[in-house]
Amino acid sequence: MATERIVIFDTTLRDGEQAPGAAMTIPEKIQIAHQLARLNVDVIEAGFPISSPGQFEAVRRIAQEVQGPTICALSRAKRADVEAAGKALEGSDNTRIHTFIATSDIHLKSKFADERYGKTLADKRESVKEMAVEAILLSKTFTDDVEFSAEDAGRTDLKYLCEVVSAAIQAGATTINLPDTTGYCISDEYAALIADVMECCGGNEDVIFSTHCHDDLGLAVGNSLAGILAGARQVECTINGIGERAGNAALEEVVMALVVRENYFSLTTEVDAKLLFETSKMVSTFTGFVVQPNKGIVGRNAFAHEAGIHQDGVLKARETYEIMRAEDVGQDSQSIRLGRHSGRHGLFSRMEKLGMEVSEDEKDKLYADFVQLADRKKEINDIDLYNLVHENESAMNHPHYKLEQFNVSVGTDKQPEATVRVRHVRHDSVVEKVATGDGPIDALFRAIDHAVNEGHDLVNYTIRSISEGADAFGEVSVLIGLGGPLFAGKASSTDVIYASAEAYMNALNSMAAHRADEESIQFVATGIMQAFDRGSA
Ligand code: KIV
Ligand code: ZN
Repeated sequence: MATERIVIFDTTLRDGEQAPGAAMTIPEKIQIAHQLARLNVDVIEAGFPISSPGQFEAVRRIAQEVQGPTICALSRAKRADVEAAGKALEGSDNTRIHTFIATSDIHLKSKFADERYGKTLADKRESVKEMAVEAILLSKTFTDDVEFSAEDAGRTDLKYLCEVVSAAIQAGATTINLPDTTGYCISDEYAALIADVMECCGGNEDVIFSTHCHDDLGLAVGNSLAGILAGARQVECTINGIGERAGNAALEEVVMALVVRENYFSLTTEVDAKLLFETSKMVSTFTGFVVQPNKGIVGRNAFAHEAGIHQDGVLKARETYEIMRAEDVGQDSQSIRLGRHSGRHGLFSRMEKLGMEVSEDEKDKLYADFVQLADRKKEINDIDLYNLVHENESAMNHPHYKLEQFNVSVGTDKQPEATVRVRHVRHDSVVEKVATGDGPIDALFRAIDHAVNEGHDLVNYTIRSISEGADAFGEVSVLIGLGGPLFAGKASSTDVIYASAEAYMNALNSMAAHRADEESIQFVATGIMQAFDRGSA
């Protein structure tokens, strides 16, 4: 069977931004629009120009600057709205006006209560139909590509919906969208709605029917897929499923359902799935909406296996527990998460990947230590594994260096500066140093380096929030070394500068302990050699 194409209509910048708290700046929206173009979506709904000068400007600039997808502007079925949309899109040739009006009786009674829309419900229905037609005709004077949405189609009387949609098609609408505005429909119902409206108003091959599903009952993606099985060929969706209330259908889930189950749908999209994860991260960063770890496709656990049985299965054959590859959506291919449910196979294969040599004799003790640590920590990362092998904790019990005091100052008109006082425990001496740096942490690390004076490079520094809010706990991990083995340090605190200092000192102490061990081995070896030389002389 020939594969048909689904038009991916991304509304992250319009319906997505309507999520309470998701507002983005114009430069952020432009960056997202460029990313959506790289992702290769077909249509970008860039905003609702009449609603504010900022929205107008965002749509205008995206239409001017972003090449590839059709750029769409939303308007109510009102002259001023359509004109604002047309003006915002002016000068670009690949544009669409998306005009909408509510059609359900619930909406008609509340939004069109005023008698100027008619006294009876029948009169109001007639007025709404006329307004839709007028808005479409006006939109057509700006662009040939006009989409009409019957808002709350999911709760609209079918006969009336067919009347409005037929009138919209006659007026020139090229896309007909049937939104389940309130996320009320169950999948079979939504599929029937699409099929029924297509049956009564279909026949024009140039008209595409579209789904637009909200997630109030957690059915947005399922309903969108049911809609396309019923004949819709456009899906309206958002990155990470953000949107009004519970959100919209998640673009990444819809796209990957079509990829993974192509054998079922026989439908494709043009989306470059490898960019899904980075697009998700960009939207999450700009909106401030954290992606839940268990979110499909783009959640950090979407490809992670912690249970021993699963790890063992995946390590033997990936498809045992995976229906797609992390790399296919741009996620890290490291799928084995080490935690309290992990088994030996998972642990030692990760250590092998990290180049850590573990002899058979060491394995039992190492696994026992790992299990003990996993009972105290949610997740064991690579740095923990280095610690485990290098017995970092014993170094912490007998530190070579203690950071007795530090001060960091930053300001708008000065370079960040750090002062530190470090005790060299073995020599019972104290060293005080000052340094400036590119930021407060750089300044602090430089000052500590001067005070400790142990040659090394900073190999890795990561910071992650392990709770939410302005007083969130920050967990800092540091990895240092100089050619040979690496030494890790970790600390967490609500004060990220404090956590950074502590993590850095832990890594330095670990390295100092290792170097001291090597020196004493060397000292003993030299002593033996000297005694041997004397004896043989
Ligand atoms: O949910 C909805 O009905 C909408 C329309 C404006 C298409 O977002
Ligand atoms: Zn919507």
